[in-house]
Amino acid sequence: MSVIDIHNHFFPHSWPDLAARYGTPDWPWIKHTEPDKADVMIGDRVFRHIYSACWDPQKRLEEMDRDGVEMQVLSATPVLFAYDRPVEHALDCAQLFNDAALELCVQGQGRLKALCQVPLQDVDAACKELSRCMRAGHLGVQIGNHVGEKNLDDPGIVTFLHHCAGENAAVLVHPWDMFGQSRMLKYMMPWTVGMPAETQLGIVAMILGGAFDKLPRNLRICFAHGGGSFAFLLGRLQNAWQHQPVAHGLCELAPRDYLNRFYVDSAVFDPLALKYLVETMGAERVMLGSDYPFPLGEHHVGELIRSSNLPQPTKSRLLGENAEEFLKLPRTSPGASAQTTNPSKQIPPESHQLTYSSYLRVPELLQLQYPQSRPEHHDELLFIIVHQTYELWFKELLHDLDAVVANLRDAGQNPESRDEVYEGARLLRRCTEITRVLVEQFTILETMLPTHFLAFRAKLEPASGFQSEQFRELEFLCGLKDEKMLRYHRPTPEAYAQLERRLREPSLHDAFFQALRAMGKLQIDNNASERDRFDARARAVLSLYRDEHSNRDWIDVCERLTEFDELVVGWRLRHIQLVERVIGTRMGTGGSAGSSYLKLTLDKKFFPELWEARTLLTE
Ligand code: HEM
Repeated sequence: MSVIDIHNHFFPHSWPDLAARYGTPDWPWIKHTEPDKADVMIGDRVFRHIYSACWDPQKRLEEMDRDGVEMQVLSATPVLFAYDRPVEHALDCAQLFNDAALELCVQGQGRLKALCQVPLQDVDAACKELSRCMRAGHLGVQIGNHVGEKNLDDPGIVTFLHHCAGENAAVLVHPWDMFGQSRMLKYMMPWTVGMPAETQLGIVAMILGGAFDKLPRNLRICFAHGGGSFAFLLGRLQNAWQHQPVAHGLCELAPRDYLNRFYVDSAVFDPLALKYLVETMGAERVMLGSDYPFPLGEHHVGELIRSSNLPQPTKSRLLGENAEEFLKLPRTSPGASAQTTNPSKQIPPESHQLTYSSYLRVPELLQLQYPQSRPEHHDELLFIIVHQTYELWFKELLHDLDAVVANLRDAGQNPESRDEVYEGARLLRRCTEITRVLVEQFTILETMLPTHFLAFRAKLEPASGFQSEQFRELEFLCGLKDEKMLRYHRPTPEAYAQLERRLREPSLHDAFFQALRAMGKLQIDNNASERDRFDARARAVLSLYRDEHSNRDWIDVCERLTEFDELVVGWRLRHIQLVERVIGTRMGTGGSAGSSYLKLTLDKKFFPELWEARTLLTE
């Protein structure tokens, strides 16, 4: 029978002085008081007395043998999460402890495995660190049950959990940063009262906030301390859900129907509580978790389960079999004992190697389509996928155009060098090819009958293409900056901030003409009117074309920019044709006059001077 403890903690023997490293106070540090004892300090305050099992793998292995534990999956402690610190500090701290965890595992004869921690206040950084750790050998991640005011149904955290599913990473949710501490100053009440309530809140937020509906079923997530108060108060939650519309939340099913979406550990310290937990959650959803080697942990790991009246097959599930599934370890053969099984052999080294799917995040990608129609309309999936594909290409366009801006800036600073101009032109060619595909792609959507679109259109309001942040970013980046369009992004502060940044930054239009200016091909008087400036820019372009021999590379850039402009107008036109084909001249879901509004955008050009130069050429 396998015995795997999925919830226990470590502290390394020592770590750098984090307060000095980051220049901010109150980071945990370790004060060794006796050869096998230490205090974890926060500033001058003793946070916790610990002993050598925290850092000494030999000690851990001895105590694991004593308790008949075959494998421990260690995690750092929530006091190190640092979600309220600057992300670069939290990331650095996570990396220090994640690497330290693996060092401990290396000395653990294959019986020690680890969960990493991530800077969850920043989804991108958290995803990257998780991927790094999974490649390095972690089995998953331990996260806190909230990030400041954000519960686990926060869209950013849900994105991270998607990523965990894609990375095949097990997730352990640990309560931390307990609320109401001003009323729980004494008697360790934040741990005994606050923590279970925090964990309950984490689970309830995920259920009612609709997070489980959005997340793939292959996400493996476990809540510490038996899920806190959740199981005991599930009846109350279910009752509120059934009788109070306001308590309904966003979930598709009743709370009880989500019990098969998560695990809990067995750290409840009471046989009756364990029995109730198993009856509520099901025997396949509870796993051995001890909180070892902390004072509030189980002192003989596994004793609660072993000494319970649960049937033997249930005990086997709780002690190890469920953890094997949770951690995706190969099943041990019946009868293998804690001492004879070498867990290092259980984990194939290739399980964390990069594959096609893990590299491309295929499972996550395929889980990102959420039709709104009920029953689901067949064509809504196409509608979602076409839009998502556009957004992916918009991302690539932004990526390439940013590089073009940098190339043109460098070209202006170093007029002798031709490399940057060629590279800019090469990338612009990519942008025109992408945009050509984007113009064509509308035809796929035109295979949808207008009646089919109308069958689910009402579900989309007030979502609209107006809110495509990346489309607006592209316009701003190319030089069409219309501050009024920011108003559509008020509901999404991150998008709003990003667009404001784009408004401030030099555009592709700016970079192109600044380069001409730096090369002495454009002179503009500081007091010149807007009209005169425009004419001067057009004439600068004209001068390039008039001396083709000397300016071939810059003419190539001009041609690419013109073609790009042309293709974007083509995109606008095809979009209008699609809109009229599907909804005629009806208003849009974003509140505009629909196609008649969109027709006004056909006159928009990113580089009108390039077009004006053509008129001048024929003078
Ligand atoms: C059935 C298909 C579609 C219909 C009926 C439709 C309709 C509309 C309408 C009426 C508008 C004007 C704003 C409003 O009032 O909502 C609009 C704007 C927009 N749509 Fe679409 N659209 C469709 C497909 C697409 C697709 C596939 C994309 C690809 C990304 C897209 C991107 C945009 C963008 C970026 C805008 C803002 C344009 C601007 O402000 O210049 N639309 N759409």
